[in-house]
Amino acid sequence: MNHTETGTRDRPGGAALAVVVLAAGQGTRMRSALPKVMHPLAGRPMILQVLQTANALSPDRTIVVVGPNMPSLADLVTPHPTPVQTEQLGTGHAVLQARDALGNHSGDVLILFGDTPLLTVDTLTAVLAARHGPADPAVVVLGFRPDDPGAYGRLVLAEDGSLVKIVEARDADPETLDIDLCNSGVMAVDGTVLFELLDQLGNANAKGEYYLTDLVALARAAGRNTAVVEAPADELLGVNSRADLAIAEAVMQDRLRAAALSGGATLVDPKTVWFSHDTRIGQDTIVSPNVVFGSGVTIGDGVDVLPFSHLEGVTVADGARIGPYARLRPGTNVGAGARIGNFVEIKAAEIEAGAKVNHLSYVGDAHVGAGANVGAGTITCNYDGFTKSLTEIGAGAFIGSNSALVAPVKVGDGAIVGAGSTITRDVEADAMAVTRADQKSVASGAKRFRERRRKSRPTG
Ligand code: UD1
Ligand code: MG
Repeated sequence: MNHTETGTRDRPGGAALAVVVLAAGQGTRMRSALPKVMHPLAGRPMILQVLQTANALSPDRTIVVVGPNMPSLADLVTPHPTPVQTEQLGTGHAVLQARDALGNHSGDVLILFGDTPLLTVDTLTAVLAARHGPADPAVVVLGFRPDDPGAYGRLVLAEDGSLVKIVEARDADPETLDIDLCNSGVMAVDGTVLFELLDQLGNANAKGEYYLTDLVALARAAGRNTAVVEAPADELLGVNSRADLAIAEAVMQDRLRAAALSGGATLVDPKTVWFSHDTRIGQDTIVSPNVVFGSGVTIGDGVDVLPFSHLEGVTVADGARIGPYARLRPGTNVGAGARIGNFVEIKAAEIEAGAKVNHLSYVGDAHVGAGANVGAGTITCNYDGFTKSLTEIGAGAFIGSNSALVAPVKVGDGAIVGAGSTITRDVEADAMAVTRADQKSVASGAKRFRERRRKSRPTG
């Protein structure tokens, strides 16, 4: 699957670029112990999505402003510097915390919010291009028109279309609230004046915070131009609540589905297939409804993924068939043309080309050779309560139904294990091993049993 965000781009203007990502807010509206920007989208923390997008611009440095007591966030964004904003005194105050990390940087400063993860590289490129437009605006703001402007800051434009100021919703009069052009939070600022302007910020507003948004009016007052670039609303959703997170996830999923389709996979019912940010699917693979791809899945060409299968940390080679109702867990590699059927769980196992595990099995910490057939209900007993051990099944071996393979154990190439066996010792190549008890049959025993029971049945 192709991700447009990954490739690097030529940057407009050619100036040095620093990116500052604001991520110090705990995100109280999320009602979570986890910092807001660490909540996952398509299987990874949203801040990493923001950083991946920023990274495509090849910035000279990227700084992530974090809150106190967020060591896990600082670890996550290593090696980027993570100045700490000890008190959340506002978005402008947050950018001030990047002063030391920015050092003598005098190029462009692109300010992003860690809670606005759906941005695309194309949009950021347009913002930087505007920053180097003929009017040399000191501040370029990325605007959008959401269906519900709600709590977003409003962009107040002059007659000539230039940006005069940003007014936060809480500070806005009814007329200003009627403006539908909103502040996304993304801003490109001329690095030579950034701190000069930030140092003038006050906090005489409804929240008593140092608003980054006031930079626009301050730049105008200093005689500089300012500008707006508009982008589609679905890129600029700010995630402030779990409801917003669900909307953002839906947008991400739609993008991933579209990428899979344009890459040549069939999704029978796209809305029911769930991807991770890193899912890769080859051409002519058919994904049936209700399939979930966890992180780290790579699927080859011409694979059939049947309904209700769950895959995570898995590679599947060309022409294999998975499911319905298969669960493939991390460390599993399925070879070309292999078949994994219904109610089969596979973990940390190599399933070689053409092998079949078709029904009701658990195969964990195992190697299944090419063309082997693992019968219904086979279990690899990989764990003795202390350690996990390996089960090796040779090429072309046949494991009869309802067998237990007690690891560590090896079944040689071409060997047969009789149904219902519990295998505790290695089976040589081409040998046949059976451990079940001998069968006893009593001729007419069933008939005599029924007659006895009928006679003793109470009457009345
Ligand atoms: C902000 C904007 C608003 C805009 C909206 C877009 C301001 C004053 N308001 O409002 O105009 O429409 O985003 O989504 O800028 N943060 C810090 N430190 C702080 C405060 C915030 O690092 O002291 C970070 C947060 O972690 C978050 C980002 O800045 O990543 C935005 O903060 P948030 O509180 O969500 O601002 P909004 O109220 O959404
Ligand atoms: Mg926000």
